[in-house]
Amino acid sequence: MFGRRTILGASLALGLAAIAGVGCGDPASGPNASPEGSGSASKGGKKDAGPWMVGAYLSLSGAQTQFGQDTKKGIELALDSINKDGGPKGRPVKVLYEDDKSNPQEVTNKVTQLIDRDKVVAVLGEVSSALSKQGGLVANKKKVPMISPSSTNEDVTEIGPFVFRVCFVDGFQGKMAAEFAVKTLGKKKLGMLVASDDLYSSGLAAEFKKAATALGAEVVLEKTFLKTETNFTTFLNEMKSADPEVIYAPIYYNQMVPMARQAKAVGIEGNKFVGGDGWDSDELLKDAGEEMEGAFFTNHYAPDVPWPNSKIFLDAYKAKNGGAAPNGLAAMGYDAALVLADAMKRSKDDSPQGIRDAIAATKNFQGATGSITINDKRDADKPVVIVQIKGKAYTYHSMVGPGAEAAAPAPTGSADPAASASAGPAPSASAAPDASAAPAASPAKPPPPAPPPAPTAPPPT
Ligand code: PHE
Repeated sequence: MFGRRTILGASLALGLAAIAGVGCGDPASGPNASPEGSGSASKGGKKDAGPWMVGAYLSLSGAQTQFGQDTKKGIELALDSINKDGGPKGRPVKVLYEDDKSNPQEVTNKVTQLIDRDKVVAVLGEVSSALSKQGGLVANKKKVPMISPSSTNEDVTEIGPFVFRVCFVDGFQGKMAAEFAVKTLGKKKLGMLVASDDLYSSGLAAEFKKAATALGAEVVLEKTFLKTETNFTTFLNEMKSADPEVIYAPIYYNQMVPMARQAKAVGIEGNKFVGGDGWDSDELLKDAGEEMEGAFFTNHYAPDVPWPNSKIFLDAYKAKNGGAAPNGLAAMGYDAALVLADAMKRSKDDSPQGIRDAIAATKNFQGATGSITINDKRDADKPVVIVQIKGKAYTYHSMVGPGAEAAAPAPTGSADPAASASAGPAPSASAAPDASAAPAASPAKPPPPAPPPAPTAPPPT
């Protein structure tokens, strides 16, 4: 069954990480290890070459401000550990941030500036798929590798060989949401609310619908609107009359907040909603957390997700940010920067082309958001995390899909399980003061059991 496979997968992930030494400060094992070994600061380094210049274009203002700001916090935390011992090949990584104002035209300008004016060797960004697609066109044309931390629409990496992501794609995310609604929650009568002019929302909605109907569910009402819409009352009244058991709303937090409040006002309970990663933000919890009590969404991360490096990341993030818990955006920004730095270590000639090739070869990188393998479409093979909103907080519910096994390959049947799981660079001791207390620190000990998800999900109504 779903839930059991999930628990097993999570425990195996902990076990393998323990074998691979994640959290022990020994990043020099496995296929992602630097040819120079764990790399004392200058060994094999090119100090004269100066820092590695990296550009990050993010929505630091505008409609998706929180996406950009949280991602930036994750990148900053990663830099602490990346640069602690001097950086990849003894050169520190320096990130130049540009605010694209959540605007596609600005994205084109900023990415062009970063590459042409600032001569960056790689680019990090964006969160929103529509904006990453814009930035990817520039980066790919100029042959500078780009890693999107969290853009999930397929179009983004289809642009070409220089565009990567460290997250899963919406074909997978939408399918897992449908399986969750129909199989796990056992709901057959579905409603959908979609921002039709947004690449992410319309793409995810289509994948969900395809998968849900294939599983025998029926979409009784689907309403579409523009991504700038903030008044949903008419649609919600119609939804109330259609009376679906689950309402799938793959929209960003800035629309989900007014929608949840208006839903409550017309008498639709928040726990009927199921969403995608676009919900993930502190704003949503703060402004509509109560209205959305009990709702589920597919995501990349939850603060209590049972991956060893997530715990290390959580503690380090809290220490750096006044005790505040990180969200998925920060975790993905962190992993994107770590995967890039790991590729820089392995890059054969330090050029954008060399870094590109090394990113493409990333395998079983142990990040805060699970094990990351870049596949031949330049997307990450990894599991979807189901998160539930409880008491105005995001709580881990379960991990789903074939990616859950991919993150934790079964130790049996493989000659040397440790060899297939490389350790990502463990965050530095200073960034993660209690890294030694992380579950993976003692390879001899059996892994602690993963927090069990509810055996059967509570019905959303
Ligand atoms: N996946 C969303 C997109 O592609 C962006 C997003 C990721 C938003 C994670 C929130 C959290 O547009």
